[in-house]
Amino acid sequence: MSLQIQHDYRGAYHFSPANGWMNDPNGMVYWEGEYHLFFQYHPFGQTWGPMHWGHAVSRNLVHWQELPLALEPDELGTIFSGSAVVDWHNTTGFFPEQPGLVAIFTHHNELPGQPIQQSQSLAYSHDRGRTWQKYAGNPVLTNEHRPDFRDPKVFWYEPDNSWMMIVACGQMVSLYRSSNLLQWTEISEFGDGIGCHDGVWECPDLFPLPVQNGADDADRWVMLVSIGDGGVDTEGSRTQYFTGHFDGTSFIPDEASQDVRWLDYGRDNYAGVSWSDIPAEDGRRLYIGWMSNWRYANTTPTGDWRGAMTIARELLLEQVEDGQLQLLQRPVIELESCRHSLLQLEQAKPEQIAAALDALRLRSYELHIVMPAISSAQWEVLSDGQYRTVIDVDGVTGTIGIDRTQSGDQTFHEHFAGRHEAALSTVGAVRELRIFVDRGSVEVFVDGGRTVLTDLIFPPAGADRLGLINGMNKHHQSAWMSVAIYDLSVG
Ligand code: FRU
Repeated sequence: MSLQIQHDYRGAYHFSPANGWMNDPNGMVYWEGEYHLFFQYHPFGQTWGPMHWGHAVSRNLVHWQELPLALEPDELGTIFSGSAVVDWHNTTGFFPEQPGLVAIFTHHNELPGQPIQQSQSLAYSHDRGRTWQKYAGNPVLTNEHRPDFRDPKVFWYEPDNSWMMIVACGQMVSLYRSSNLLQWTEISEFGDGIGCHDGVWECPDLFPLPVQNGADDADRWVMLVSIGDGGVDTEGSRTQYFTGHFDGTSFIPDEASQDVRWLDYGRDNYAGVSWSDIPAEDGRRLYIGWMSNWRYANTTPTGDWRGAMTIARELLLEQVEDGQLQLLQRPVIELESCRHSLLQLEQAKPEQIAAALDALRLRSYELHIVMPAISSAQWEVLSDGQYRTVIDVDGVTGTIGIDRTQSGDQTFHEHFAGRHEAALSTVGAVRELRIFVDRGSVEVFVDGGRTVLTDLIFPPAGADRLGLINGMNKHHQSAWMSVAIYDLSVG
């Protein structure tokens, strides 16, 4: 049987642009009932090119409406990644009448025969992000000594009544302070001798989070740093995180220098950062990532569009056995009101589950599983009988894997095929898995978001089967499982 290429990998509940190339999520901010998602966008091609900011909005973080272009290149350069905030107190002077949005982004200037220049600039909007004026005094922050100086993430730091910016500089990040977003003072650096340095540091974020089961009420701080593709000996581009304290000037990490902690153990969650200005009564730290990898992002077989975001996720911090803090990712609760229940089996036998799954034909869904933590199982998703993606949990070795070696089209890049594995943390007698499948992607959340894997796949046309399969761990095969299936193909 030959591979019959599927022509629409567009997810039903993942954002992707109607046309053109997309990479990083940018400027995520909540304002007047809308979640804004700007993004690195090349509207005139299907590969990376002169960067613009595209724009989409959502009221539920699941269904997105794409809007006209937000920011276009100008005489200072193209528009690289950045963030957006609500200027509640008119610190900029842009909003004499009522608060509005300010975008803080990198101008990237590449002129023939000259060194690349990256600087930070502003744009502001009085009409809910629909139109933007660039600030006449751009750029607001330059640094001639740094060829890589980009991806500003700005947040309001209440104790000092000031803005803070974390920005990537080569294989470090720098922190800057400002009272008005216009003038910035450097206050500290972070990254020397700590964390992963396989590639350039990009798209940092810094935010406080309460510790779910902590001994006190004090927030701790989380830093996200995406690491560019470091070459064939690495997994491509990935995101690491640090936990620690922030004293208003410096970030003091908990980690010992050699510890590297990854946000995601799949290959396709990069450059993600968190939303700004989520109302206090909501209180969540919401996150979205770009669901691709620089290793092969420019060659994925999607047609007129290229690039999708992950599902939106909530980030939480939890204290684990040795007192270390672990970052958890959970699918946003809004997904639960967008799904339709198709099947619920409580503590059923594997044969009964296999038979029930065999009867289904689905491409966009959630598969929810609860099973004894010590047992093992394998599922296949988006299968046509020949091609399939396999997710396996091994309760004996304590691992989970996504195997996309037989998932469908992988001819577009020699490093796409593979099996990606993560160690599972021991949490109790039962294991919970939430597996989100959407035509061209699989996202697996284990045990309340302690272990997460996100992978792209390109299954053939007609690959709409799912199943519970017996595998190598047959003798540890789970004695029972509770399974629920939810359709997510319509809103
Ligand atoms: C990360 C990144 C950023 C940069 C943007 C350019 O994926 O390389 O550092 O601002 O993409 O599109």
